[in-house]
Amino acid sequence: MREELLTFVSQRGTLLEPDAIEFLLVQQDPIAELEGFLRSCPETPFLVTLADIRHSAEIARTAATRARPVPPSPRRSAASIPASFRRLGERAADAGPDVRILRDITGRSTCEGTLEDFTRYFRHRFQVLREMLRRHRELGGAQDIAKAQRSTREIRIIGMVADVRTTKNGHRILELEDDTERVPVLLPADSPLASETVVPDEVVGIVGTVNGKGLVIAASLVRPDLPTTKAFPGTPGHARVAFMSDIHVGSRTFLDEKWSRVSEWLGGADEVAQSIRYLVVSGDVVDGIGVYPRQDEELTIDDIYGQYEALAGMISALPDRLAVVLLPGNHDAVRPAEPQPAFPTSIQKLFDSNVIFAGNPSVLSIEGVRILAYHGRSMDDLVSSIPGLSYQRPLDGMKAMLRMRHLAPIYGGKTPIAPEAEDHLIIEDVPDIFVTGHVHAVGVDQYRGVVLVNASTWQAQTPYQKMRNIQPAPARLPIVDLATGQAVIREF
Ligand SMILES: [Fe+2]
Ligand SMILES: [Fe+2]
Repeated sequence: MREELLTFVSQRGTLLEPDAIEFLLVQQDPIAELEGFLRSCPETPFLVTLADIRHSAEIARTAATRARPVPPSPRRSAASIPASFRRLGERAADAGPDVRILRDITGRSTCEGTLEDFTRYFRHRFQVLREMLRRHRELGGAQDIAKAQRSTREIRIIGMVADVRTTKNGHRILELEDDTERVPVLLPADSPLASETVVPDEVVGIVGTVNGKGLVIAASLVRPDLPTTKAFPGTPGHARVAFMSDIHVGSRTFLDEKWSRVSEWLGGADEVAQSIRYLVVSGDVVDGIGVYPRQDEELTIDDIYGQYEALAGMISALPDRLAVVLLPGNHDAVRPAEPQPAFPTSIQKLFDSNVIFAGNPSVLSIEGVRILAYHGRSMDDLVSSIPGLSYQRPLDGMKAMLRMRHLAPIYGGKTPIAPEAEDHLIIEDVPDIFVTGHVHAVGVDQYRGVVLVNASTWQAQTPYQKMRNIQPAPARLPIVDLATGQAVIREF
């Protein structure tokens, strides 16, 4: 197919960016896809990029969705949504959906897992986060560790945390590393810094002094964090986006009655339901096969394609006005290492054209509102490293990620990370909405102007969760108004 595609490209007198080639090759009909794009251009472009191709694919999907009528449905009550939220809503506008994938790994993976790949990956992580930290006033003029170590005055350094330990006197010692040197940093037990939780592999700035033994005594610790305030951009219309996660289709504990209820409500005449134009599903959309030992005993559908087929049927029964974005999670049929690419064509083709497939994590633009969507596997590592964090309080974990500007800072824990040339898990741009799933909890909150959503689950407590005393919060639907950023949760 590659050769046919390249022959077609040269016949048409254009060039294809390597990423665009890889992207097209996993599509059902690469040549038709490219031809469709070229037809939309007033003249043949000199170079076709990945962004061009993806944008044109979105337009095609949008057009297909727009063509389908919205079926009439019975009215149902929705008493759990407050009246204030209800009044702000309007019927979703008649314009087509506007969803763009601004960033994910799909079609761009280059790593082979070599030692060089890891070195390059960590160097990229360090450099990007160091640049963010350098913009902080407290760290202005920060020096390389090797140079700062010889200073007798106050020093400002930026490094990646290679190790964290607590001494028997309650001091905390960080081993901080940059590309020049590694240095021990003391967070004194009698300072507020001692209670600061630092996790391995995060990148922090330190202001302090060096003692005679080469130990840095920290006076303050600076994280990349978010700017202190940020306004929600707000769309002119009042379309809303609903969030789901962890549907786990195929599992014995999948809540099909609850699903029927939400499906019926979304298709009904309720004014809030009618204003929902988008549905973002943050991974674990099916239960998968062989994800954990003896999983087969927990399955009602023991064929992976069967599970996705069942999900596709459920989604096609939702109202046609919904544009649905599906991300994979750790139970899904893509590589487990993050960043995960979107579902392969063999799965995508089971779904209707109103479904958009994105990687995990991805940055989406919905009507210009920037949404960072991440399944949330790293919560497993954060919960075991940050005292006070729990599966029931995922929003605290999400705030920690935003402060570190990284979705999965801890390397070598439960979250497998693929050493791509660029670290896609860095939170480079500040999102307007940040959504995760994975922990089967639910919640909405704000952090420095970013709307936080943990998107519940459609699976009841599993035997594994029962054994570990984890209480899920299933069948809740967080809904965010794209005009205001206001968020509510509706229970089913
Ligand atoms: Fe899950
Ligand atoms: Fe998960």
